[in-house]
Order: sequence, then C-alpha cells, then structure tokens
Amino acid sequence: MRRIIIDCDPGHDDITAIVCALAHPEQLDVLGLTTVCGNNLLDNVTRNLCQVMTVLKRDCIISKGYDSPMVYHPEPQRAAHGETGLAGPELPEPVIEPISLHAIEFMKKMALEHGKITLVALAPLTNIALFLKTYPELKQNIECITLMGGSRYGGNILEKSEFNIYADPHAARIVFESGVPVVMSGLEICQECSTPHVLIDSLNQGNEAMKMMYDILQFFSEYNRKRNRDCSPIFDVVPVMHLLHPELFETENCAVHIELDGMYTRGMTVFNENDMDSIKNVTVLTHCKDTVVYNQYLLNDLISMTK
Ligand code: RIB
Ligand code: CA
Repeated sequence: MRRIIIDCDPGHDDITAIVCALAHPEQLDVLGLTTVCGNNLLDNVTRNLCQVMTVLKRDCIISKGYDSPMVYHPEPQRAAHGETGLAGPELPEPVIEPISLHAIEFMKKMALEHGKITLVALAPLTNIALFLKTYPELKQNIECITLMGGSRYGGNILEKSEFNIYADPHAARIVFESGVPVVMSGLEICQECSTPHVLIDSLNQGNEAMKMMYDILQFFSEYNRKRNRDCSPIFDVVPVMHLLHPELFETENCAVHIELDGMYTRGMTVFNENDMDSIKNVTVLTHCKDTVVYNQYLLNDLISMTK
C-alpha cells in the first residue's frame, strides 16, 4: 500500500488521473488532494475539483496551496482547458469544500502521521517546492515525487518547454535538485500513451458520472480531433498508471537541469547526455511496453469509478 498526496490544477487530465488513483484503494491510499495555480487560477481549479468530487460522491480531503508561481505570474491555459479550467461538463454546485489547512501544512501533517508518503505532482511544482524549502527535515519522509512535467525533445508551451515546468521553473529547479527521488513523465511518454478517441466516445452513455468523464475527455481531445488525429495524450494519467502498473514502463536514470529564463528556453528540462559523471537526479519514463493494455486499464478505471 502506497500513501499518496496528489498535487493538481484540475484540469481535464488531472481529474482523469485522480479517478484512476481512486479506483485502486487496494494499491493507493489517497490521503488528500492539494491544489495549486496552474491551468487556471487557484480558486477555479479548486472549485472544479470540489464539483467533480461532488458528482463522484467522494469526500476526499482537499487543501488549497499557492495562488501564484514563485516568481512568474499565473498564465491560465484557456485554449486547452477553457475559461474555468474545466470546460465541457455541466457541473453542480459543490457540496464539499477545501479544509482550512494550507497544502504545505497538510503535506507536513501527512508526512509526520504516516512516516513515508509519495507526492504525485500533476501541476506546476510551487506547492511541492515550497513544502521542501519550508520543511527540509521532512525530505526523508518523501518516498518519491512522481510528476508529469518536462520533455526530452519537444514542448507544448514553448518549442522545448512543457507547461508545468514553464509555469514555475524556479519551483521545478528546487524539486529536481532536492535530493528527493524524482520520477518524470515527460511529454514524450505522454504522447506514446495517447488515448484513442473511440475509447473516449465509448463513455458517452450511462449515468451522470460517466457522462461527466465523457464530457471532460471529449473537450480535452477536441484539439486533436480538429486536426484529424485519432488519439489524444491525457498527460497527468501517466504518473498514476506508472504507480499502478510499473511493469508496463521502461525507465532511464538521467541528469536533468531546469532552465529558469529565456525567450525560447524558459522551463526547458535540459538533459545532460555528455558528462558520464553527472549526477543522475531523475528517473525518466522512456517507453510504454503496451499502450493497448495501458488504455484498457484506463477505461476499466473510468468505468469502475462511474458505474
Ligand atoms: O503539459 C501538460 C500539463 O499541463 C498537465 O498537467 C496539464 O494538466 C497542464 O497542467
Ligand atoms: Ca495538470
């Protein structure tokens, strides 16, 4: 049993990843969900999460974190996630609300209560970086930080930068240089694990919860559908699937540095491929051995959580 806290900015793919995690209480004890400014402003992503948990009838602990990156300003991703950060589904007024404890205080409380916890980072790393800076003595309580972020070759916000790292590169540098084991699901593995649109379309049935997941994934896949592609990366699902099914993935230990600034390079994850003596600070997911099985697991989780 692995005890986890999911740090997120819901976000269509964040919600999908959380559903997959909640579908496996026999493997993952989800201690709580912490929110951070990323895809949209903190209050919006937190409201989105509370609304979805209301539909799913789950009363997970939700704790709000930081409302801005450490240095740069918030840059809501309205094209990818809509005005509110979770466009697509009609969601009810939430019946649950976040606890009063700040996200980093919640992380501290869980670390002290449980001894060893895993942080699943699906958003800019502001909360996690400031947790590590505020409570460095608790690094020993973090089994690993498994994150969706970065890229080896491409980018989705700049030519070579992925959004979660771009949004708060100062936080990312703190995390990547913290000495805490980091597992990175970058853009390349997310693209490889893309989910077929026919699988998403098969959810267009059933009850309110399944219809919500269909509306969420339908909206999120519009970008690729309009470009006549038959699948879409559901980015944040990958780190959770790696926790649930590690045998599906190949990994490589790499030396990865974070670029803080630059018109073309802000938030770039720079892989040191040359210096054989460099410190390999990150375990990078490099390949999924069977993406058909991966997506069958995803479909099974969505169905089991919404039926
Ligand atoms: O680049 C993809 C990441 O940015 C995902 O976490 C998505 O939710 C957005 O936050
Ligand atoms: Ca996210």
